[in-house]
Parts: sequence; structure tokens; C-alpha cells
Amino acid sequence: MTVIAARARLLLGAACAVVIAVSSVAVATLAHADLTGPPGTTLKAAAERSGRYFGAAMGRDRLTDNGFLTIANREFDMMTAVNEMKPDATEPNRGQFDFRAGDAIYNWATQRGMRFRGHTLAWHAQQPRFWGSLSGSALRQAMIDHINGVMAHYKGKLYAWDVVNEAFAENGSRRSSNLQATGNDWIEAAFRAARAADPGVQLCYNDYNIENWTYAKTQGVYNMIRDFKARGVPIDCVGLQTHFTGGSSLPGNFQQTLSSFAALGVDVALTEADVTNASSSQYQGLTQACMNVPRCVGITTWGIRDSDSWRGNENPLLFDRNSNPKPAYTSVLNALNAASTTVPGTSTPPSTPPSTPPSTPPSTPPSTPPVTGQPGACTATYRTASTWNGGYQGEVTVANNGSAALTGWTVQLTLAGGQTVANVWNGINTGTSGTISVRNAAYNGSVGANASTSFGFLVNGSTGTAPGSLTCTSP
Ligand code: G3I
Repeated sequence: MTVIAARARLLLGAACAVVIAVSSVAVATLAHADLTGPPGTTLKAAAERSGRYFGAAMGRDRLTDNGFLTIANREFDMMTAVNEMKPDATEPNRGQFDFRAGDAIYNWATQRGMRFRGHTLAWHAQQPRFWGSLSGSALRQAMIDHINGVMAHYKGKLYAWDVVNEAFAENGSRRSSNLQATGNDWIEAAFRAARAADPGVQLCYNDYNIENWTYAKTQGVYNMIRDFKARGVPIDCVGLQTHFTGGSSLPGNFQQTLSSFAALGVDVALTEADVTNASSSQYQGLTQACMNVPRCVGITTWGIRDSDSWRGNENPLLFDRNSNPKPAYTSVLNALNAASTTVPGTSTPPSTPPSTPPSTPPSTPPSTPPVTGQPGACTATYRTASTWNGGYQGEVTVANNGSAALTGWTVQLTLAGGQTVANVWNGINTGTSGTISVRNAAYNGSVGANASTSFGFLVNGSTGTAPGSLTCTSP
């Protein structure tokens, strides 16, 4: 993968006053999207054209399976461990962590240039045996300790973590479990602990049967994510497992589900895809839905060949037992190559500035309120969302004080010496230290009159000084 810096946006229009604040951050490791290039001839090459990835899941036993490894190395650029990073595997006894199996998979994949999704930190299944004898605050603490222990080991090494897995019931309420019994806030406690443990990794909620927009469980998860975003609970992504096996199939409104989650300000990903009998039309449809949603960042299949599948009798994967690509493989490849949207922040910068020059702000205030948008009619307000030893999370609210909708915004702020941005969400940054600018992402540049939006960032470095010199400009 190529690490690219987001392109600088021309700062146009009048600078706006900014209210104080502090914080940090940006930088993402993303594919360099180029939709004008030749079609990809492998899944990963086709996905990378639009700044996306194509992933698989593997168990430790596949490390000696040359048939599997050959395809994995050729076709995939993201890997997930099927069982080896789950709580029972990584902390078999309290405080006694075992990363041997997870590391073996991680090392194999990353030595071949793949990125890695961690799966999973808190789940009702595959728990350490000792969790079974705990409850209440003792179990809650064990969960937090587990998150801290595992994330410390993989700190700075992973693309994303499935922090919490499968916490909802089919009727849209919380699934009853020993973790749920510790209090309804157990999920946000897990996410807050995770952000503090590794501020640079994407934090995901992951579940199945949340692909149909009108399904109660989908709405339950959606409402939780919306609530988290409203209250500042750290969450970056939603994983839709996309198991169209065992009686499930691709719903017609799948793209609406993806775009609805994305509109909340999170990335979405298809994390465990498999389809009964590898229906080409369903594989094509699920891929196309992802390609149509800018913040759908990638697709992972749960295994590679039918012989790898947890539902092998349904032959649900893209390769047969002889390692040959099936018709669905071609459908997916073509749909990846046909992508018309790119992941925000991954596009090739244009070689020339926009052809239409922005209007120059008036030198004196107009005597009557403007009917159209006033240049520079935004303000930026900073707040520190949380701090920890060696870093902090900041949030900037961009408010539209004009009488017409903003069509884009750019905030400039200056970090204290020694501070470096590690991650930015809901915005695209240029620069990671000193004076940086953050412009709107593709989905939040439009801000109505008297409305606001926000972006967040993580900063590594001293926590004593908040960012200063905030300005906001709008074309
Ligand atoms: O390793 C033991 C082996 O020693 C023993 O002989 C054998 C006897 O049953 O069991 C083996 O462990 C099995 C393990 O997979 C490794 O193969 C477990 O019984 C079995 O329960 C476990 O199943 C895993 C399942 O999660 C557990 O919930 C599947 O491999 C794994 O693919 C599946 O993955 C889940 C995702 O995490 C979440 N979403 C659904 C997905 C599919 O169920």
C-alpha cells in the first residue's frame, strides 16, 4: 500500500474567527486510488483502484497449506485471523496472554504487504474460561484488562479492531450475555478503553444480519452508532459480516444500509462475506453496493476456498476446493474494476486548480444580508475529548454562521511542538505537525445555515498544550 498524504486544499475566501480548542491529528494509510488506470487482474489490484482493499480470513492451520497461501498472497491485501485473536485464544488465563498463533498469521500476512484487521476483543462467544466465573464489575474489569493487554501487544500494527462483536439480538435490542449483564454501557466502555490503548487503530463494531436496512437488528445497531457519535464515544467503523449463507441473502436495500451507516460519520466494511453456492449475482450485488458508497472501505471473505469455509457444505466462497476461481470471482473482479467512487482521502490530486475561481469576499460588509452563502461564513471551535499519558483526542466543530449552506470547509490549526497527528476522522488532513489543515470529507462538506458538523483527531505527544490559531474558511 502506498501511504499518501491528503492533498492540500486551496484556502479560499475570508478566514473566519475561530473559537479555541485543542487537538490533534490525522494520517491514514490508504491505497492510492486511480480510477483511470487499467483494470486490476487480481481482487486486490481491482479494489486498490478505488482506494479499497480485498481481504480474507485465515486460521493458523492454513500457514502450512500452500494452495491457500498461494491464492492469499496473489489476490488479497488485508488479512484477519479466524479464531486466533479472539479472547479465549489471546488470554487463556487471567493476565496470561498468548499471542503465538495470532502473531504467526499476522507476521505471514504483513511480511507480504498486507494490512490486518483484528478480530475480536469483546464477544459473548469464545471467551476465556475464567470470564465464566466472573460477573458485574469484576467481569467488566476483566474485559477492560483484556482490551488493554491485547491492544498493547498489537499497538500501532493493525488497520482496525473489531472491538465488540455481535452484541445485538435479532429484535434490535441488546443480546443478553454475561457482558451485557455488567451494564448497558459495556460497549462504550470497551470502545473508550480501546481508543486509549491504541489511538491510531480504527475501532469497529461488527455484527451479522445488519445488512437489511428495514430489519430491527440493523436499526438497533444504527441507533447505537448514532448515539455514540452524538455523545463522542470513540467509534470509527461498522463491520457488516455479510453472511449470505444459512438462509440469508442479499437484500435489495443493502446499499442504503451502507450509505446510512456511513452518513453517521463512520467507515463501513464487509467483514465476513460468504454466499450460498457463491451466487454470482449476489456477489456482484454486494460488491457493487460497496463500490457505490465512498466510505465502504473494503470487503473480506471468510476464508478463500470452499474447503476453508465454516459453512463448507454451502460452497460459499470465490475459489473451489481445487483453488480455481469460480464464476463469482469474475463477477466480483468486474464489480471492483467498475467502481465509480473512491474512498475519501485516497484520490489522485488534480494537477491543476479548480477552473472556476472563487468569488472574492467583499472588502466591506454588505449593507443587507446576503441571499447566497457568504464567503468564510464558518467558525471552528475546539474541545479536548479525552487525554491520556502521551496523547489526546480533539474535536473541532465547524459551524455555519451564514445564511446559505456551505459547500465545503477547511480548518487550519497549529499544534504545539512535539505533537503529531496520528489519525483524523470526518475530515482530510494536510500535514501532521506544526500548522495543519483539515478539509471536509466527501460526505460532510455541505453544512446548512445555522447547522454544524465536526471532525476529530488523535495526537501523540505532550498533552499540556491545546492546538491554537484556529481558522475556518469556506469557498
Ligand atoms: O481447535 C479445536 C480442536 O482442537 C477441536 O478438536 C475441535 C472439535 O470441535 O474444535 C476446534 O475448535 C473449533 C474452532 O472453530 C477451530 O476450528 C471450535 O470448536 C469451533 O467452535 C470454532 O468455530 C469458529 C466460530 O467462529 C466460533 O464461534 C469458526 O472456526 C469461525 O469461523 C467462526 O467465526 C465467526 C466469527 O468469529 C464471527 N462471525 C461469525 C463467524 C462464523 O461463525
